[in-house]
Amino acid sequence: MRKLYLALVTLFVIVGCGDSKPKQKLDGEELLYQKCSKCHNLDMPPKSYDNEVAPSMMAVTFHLKDFIKSNNPSEHEIKIINFIKDYVINPSASKSFCDKKSLESYGVMPSQKGKVTTDELEAIAHYMYANYDNKKMLKIMAEKARLARMSLYERVFEQQRCTNCHNINKDKVAPSFINISKRYTIKDRDSLIKSIKDGSKGKWKQFKLIMPPFKKMSNKDIEGMADWILKLKENGAK
Ligand code: HEC
Ligand code: HEC
Repeated sequence: MRKLYLALVTLFVIVGCGDSKPKQKLDGEELLYQKCSKCHNLDMPPKSYDNEVAPSMMAVTFHLKDFIKSNNPSEHEIKIINFIKDYVINPSASKSFCDKKSLESYGVMPSQKGKVTTDELEAIAHYMYANYDNKKMLKIMAEKARLARMSLYERVFEQQRCTNCHNINKDKVAPSFINISKRYTIKDRDSLIKSIKDGSKGKWKQFKLIMPPFKKMSNKDIEGMADWILKLKENGAK
């Protein structure tokens, strides 16, 4: 009897431990991408509205935040999350907050029953509520406007930190941009583009350092910088 009791206690402890392990938290952002991005654009704000098969997730969430009313912020969040959990499984024209014209052009969302679980939807809806946030959006727009006011080279200097090694007018640990400009002509444009994209070494003997590659810079920015450098000897820093 005593043996059985011990065995039961041990069993309980083992099973108990297994159960009390913290449940892995579902990643709403990743799930949103896996389950919803086929139809909904997830960017905030979307880079383009062409070829949309569904409203952007930003538009969907802002819409729900506007239409579903509550004076209490945490109740508001719960109401919206509950709407999303229901709508994705049981969508209908009468429940949709989409205006009639958009609804006609998109068609009602096909039910995602069987493709996403309730727990996954809970995590997705939480993420949507937190991420598609008006204040966050205003910040993103303000940052975009700030970058748009900068000249190309000022923006690239800030984003890529070229000025850690280069000055415009004076040699530092790397040749000054004006000296690079004086050495080359428009015929060297492709080679300068290559140097920025893939890095450079040995072209400027007096500098021991290697120029690292800038693989993540857009082609537009790389070409813009090559053109800016080439014209520097005539135009100065504009
Ligand atoms: C096969 C395409 C498709 C997929 C996949 C899809 N949706 Fe949709 N969804 C739509 C379309 C089209 C609409 C607009 C028409 C409507 O309101 O039903 C829509 C509308 C919605 C709406 C209602 C918007 C409103 O204004 O009432 C919500 C909420 C929504 N989707 C959430 C999701 C979530 C969350 C996922 C991922 C789990 C998802 N959708 C996956 C196509 C899709
Ligand atoms: C870690 C230091 C460092 C950073 C950061 C850096 N460079 Fe350089 N850069 C160098 C060095 C060193 C050279 C000289 C390499 C050589 O001798 O070939 C150089 C050379 C160059 C050249 C001349 C290449 C040639 O073909 O003669 C260009 C153009 C250039 N850098 C542009 C840039 C731009 C644009 C940025 C920012 C996007 C940048 N660099 C960031 C160190 C750097």
